[in-house]
Amino acid sequence: MIRRKEFFGIVILALICFLFITFCEKSPTPIHSRSVAFQAIEIEQPRVLNNHISIEELVNIQRTKLQRELQDYKLPDRESLANLTIEDGGQPIRTVIITTWRSGSTFLGDILNALPGNYYHYEPLLDYGIIQIRGPPYSESALNVMKSLLNCDYTNLQRYLEFGMSHIYLFTHNKRLWSQCEAYPDYCWDPDFLNDFCRVFPFQSMKTVRLRLKLAEELLEDDTLKVKVVLLVRDPRGTLQSRKHRDWCPGEPDCDQPSYLCSDMVSDYSAAIRLSKLYPTRFKALRYEDLSLNPYENVESLFDFMGLKVHPAVKDFLDSHTTVNVGGVSSTYRDSKNAPFHWRADLSVGEIQAIEGNCSEAMKLWGYIRSNGSNVKDFYPLSAYDIK
Ligand SMILES: *[C@@H]1O[C@H](CO)[C@@H](O)[C@H](O)[C@H]1NC(C)=O
Ligand SMILES: *[C@@H]1O[C@H](CO)[C@@H](O)[C@H](O)[C@H]1NC(C)=O
Ligand SMILES: *[C@@H]1O[C@H](CO)[C@@H](O)[C@H](O)[C@H]1NC(C)=O
Repeated sequence: MIRRKEFFGIVILALICFLFITFCEKSPTPIHSRSVAFQAIEIEQPRVLNNHISIEELVNIQRTKLQRELQDYKLPDRESLANLTIEDGGQPIRTVIITTWRSGSTFLGDILNALPGNYYHYEPLLDYGIIQIRGPPYSESALNVMKSLLNCDYTNLQRYLEFGMSHIYLFTHNKRLWSQCEAYPDYCWDPDFLNDFCRVFPFQSMKTVRLRLKLAEELLEDDTLKVKVVLLVRDPRGTLQSRKHRDWCPGEPDCDQPSYLCSDMVSDYSAAIRLSKLYPTRFKALRYEDLSLNPYENVESLFDFMGLKVHPAVKDFLDSHTTVNVGGVSSTYRDSKNAPFHWRADLSVGEIQAIEGNCSEAMKLWGYIRSNGSNVKDFYPLSAYDIK
């Protein structure tokens, strides 16, 4: 009896050992243990590439550059730059622009990125394709990606980084990062570099055209982020006219159907009411048309909302981007007073009426006036709106 018990005991023990070994061998090395290995190497000898510069040196250079660029810029209510940088345990000024395709967000994103010391998380949800995220199944992963980036934590963003390696416009808009990517391509998509590099920037901006506003409440709720959210809205006739000319849009219902665009605008309006009650100092809505007609005034109130003064570099950007019409379709160099109303000349009366037919509620809520059939080409489409 005893022998039999011992025998079974040994068999079970052997089985456990066997399973343990098999499991350990088969499971891929988790990412965190890989970075632990890197760190261990770094302590003895900094990681250097062919170009003989370490991550640490690159980050030092950027830090010094930012200190120089921002030395005359007043940082309200804060004592020093360190109060705003993640690497020093500070809290950056984080701004997230929520909008949809062809609503002027390239322009607004570049205005914020004209601020020295800004790190631009451009379209973090590019790899989700031409879809709107309104809830499950994608909302959770999308918000996780956004939060990780706002914390400069690239460690678990393999999918995002892999997509970016073959779609570099994920990074090219982030000009302060991209200039390093061009000089040191081996570091560009490396989470170890990105984590440290991102954490020296006191201003962190993000814009996305794929996440609807009600989901952004989860970002505002997060007290460690203290994020500010700007909803950028545009006349659906202008948005749809502009989308018509993009080859990636037609055939994608979230992009080419006026009914989807406008029900999103209605839902964004309800979310805007809720968020402006809950977070009056951290949520703001802005219409593209108002920004284009009065860029200086609106940019000043936007920076005020962020707790900042308009930097001379931002003013220079506006000076050069709001009066002349040069560049291609995604160019932000244009006559900003006419750009928002281009649809009146480009859309047919039938197209305008189809959009207005689907969008009457959205247009009423956001202060866009319907045409009356005979004045289509020359009426003024804007009126006031109120988030109440
Ligand atoms: C700025 O950082 C210093 C040093 O960490 C700290 O003592 C101070 O309270 C911070 N100030 C603000 C306004 O956060
Ligand atoms: C809504 O848009 C669709 C697709 O463009 C169009 O066929 C339809 O006529 C529009 N509905 C109304 C009520 O105008
Ligand atoms: C359409 O509106 C214009 C003014 O914008 C007005 O002069 C015209 O009489 C209106 N036409 C109709 C059919 O209501």
